[in-house]
Amino acid sequence: MSNITLENVSRAFGSNVVVDGVNLNISPGEFVTLLGPSGCGKTTTLRMVAGLERNSGGTIKIGDAVVSDASQKIFVPPERRSLGMVFQSYAIWPHMTVFENVAYPLKVRRMPERDIRTKVDKALRLVEMERFAERPAPALSGGQQQRIAIARALVFEPKVLLLDEPMSNLDSRLRTQMGDDFRELQQRLKITTLYVTHDQAEAMSLSDRVAVMSGGEILQISAPSEIYHRPANRQVAEFFGSPNLLKAMVVGSSKRPDGLFNVRVRGSGWQGSCTGERDVAPFSEITVMIRSENFRCEAGLAVETGDVIHLSGTVKESVFRGPTRSLAIANGEQCIRVEAPSMTNPAVGSEITLFAKSEGAWVLDS
Ligand SMILES: Nc1ncnc2c1ncn2[C@@H]1O[C@H](COP(=O)(O)OP(=O)(O)OP(=O)(O)O)[C@@H](O)[C@H]1O
Ligand SMILES: [Mg+2]
Repeated sequence: MSNITLENVSRAFGSNVVVDGVNLNISPGEFVTLLGPSGCGKTTTLRMVAGLERNSGGTIKIGDAVVSDASQKIFVPPERRSLGMVFQSYAIWPHMTVFENVAYPLKVRRMPERDIRTKVDKALRLVEMERFAERPAPALSGGQQQRIAIARALVFEPKVLLLDEPMSNLDSRLRTQMGDDFRELQQRLKITTLYVTHDQAEAMSLSDRVAVMSGGEILQISAPSEIYHRPANRQVAEFFGSPNLLKAMVVGSSKRPDGLFNVRVRGSGWQGSCTGERDVAPFSEITVMIRSENFRCEAGLAVETGDVIHLSGTVKESVFRGPTRSLAIANGEQCIRVEAPSMTNPAVGSEITLFAKSEGAWVLDS
C-alpha cells in the first residue's frame, strides 16, 4: 500500500499541452478515478504514473520515492515502479493457459518455479479463477478474461494498481457485475488504485473520489456524491446528465450550521430556497442546478410555503421509460426536465406543480 502524488504534472506533445498542471494526492488504499471526455488527457496521466510516458513538467511520487521529476531529470523506468496495470485490451496471451498468463510477469522476473506456483495460485484464488488454471485463455468469457488480467496485474504484489478502461469490452450487465466484484476485491486488498474511465456511472459506483478532467486539467476532485450533488461549476454539473439550470436573483442568504449557505432566490415565475457553497449578495444573478430526479410533482396549482423550491407549469411531454417517466414542463420561457416515478402520469397539456427541497437545489459558481 502506497500513496501516489502528482505535483503540477504536465505533458506536451510538441506545442500541444495535453496534461496541464495536474495536482493529485491519492492516499494509501484509496480508489481514485480520472473521469472525463475523450481526449481530455486521462490515459496520458495514467501512463505518466506508470512510467510509459515522461512528464514534461512536475513531479510524480509513489510512496516516498520520487519516480519522475522533470526539472531534476529523475526517471524511474516502469518495471522498477512496482505497479500492476490493466488496460482496455487486457492483452491475455491466446497461446497460453490461464496459469501461464498469470505466471508471465514472474517468469520475466526470473522467480524460482516453486514460488511462481504459490503466487499464481494465490492470485487466481483472489479473483476466484483457480478452477480455470489449466484452461486455454481464449476459452474464457470476457469477464473471466478480465479477471485473469487483474490477477496478472496483482501477482507480483504491486504497491499500486493502474487501470485504463479495463471494462470497456464488456456488455453493460457484465460491467456492473465486474465493477462491483472489482470494488469488493480492491477494498479487501486495500490496494491504492488509479482508474480511468469516461463512464460516469462506473466512476460513481467504484471510487472513493472522482477527479473530473477536461482539456488536460482537473476541474474538481471529490467524493462521487459531492461531485454529483454539489458540482463546483456548470461544466462539472453538465458532465453528469442534463440537469435543470435555472436563472435566479438572490433575495437573501444565511450561513447554516454545516458551513454551507441557505440562499433564498426568486426566478421568473418561481421562488424558493437553495443551498450554496458561499455567501452571495442580495440582487446577484445566479444559476441554480436542480437535477431532474429531485422534483416532486403534484397535479394542479398546489401551494406550499416553507423551505422548498416551488414552481408550476404545463406538461409538454411525457415519456414512459420503465422505472421512471420523463416529463417536460413549460414554465414561462423555460423548459424543466423531470424524472418522476413512472406511476406518476399527468396528462399532456395539464397544469402541474413541482417542488424541490433546498438540499436538491444547488447554487453554481458563475
Ligand atoms: N504520443 C502522442 N503524440 C501526440 N499526441 C498525443 C499522443 N498521445 C496522446 N496524444 C494526444 O493527447 C490528448 C489526450 O490523449 P489521451 O489518450 O490522454 O486522452 P483520453 O482522455 O485517455 O481519451 P480517451 O477517453 O479517448 O481514451 C489527445 O488529444 C491525444 O491526441
Ligand atoms: Mg484513454
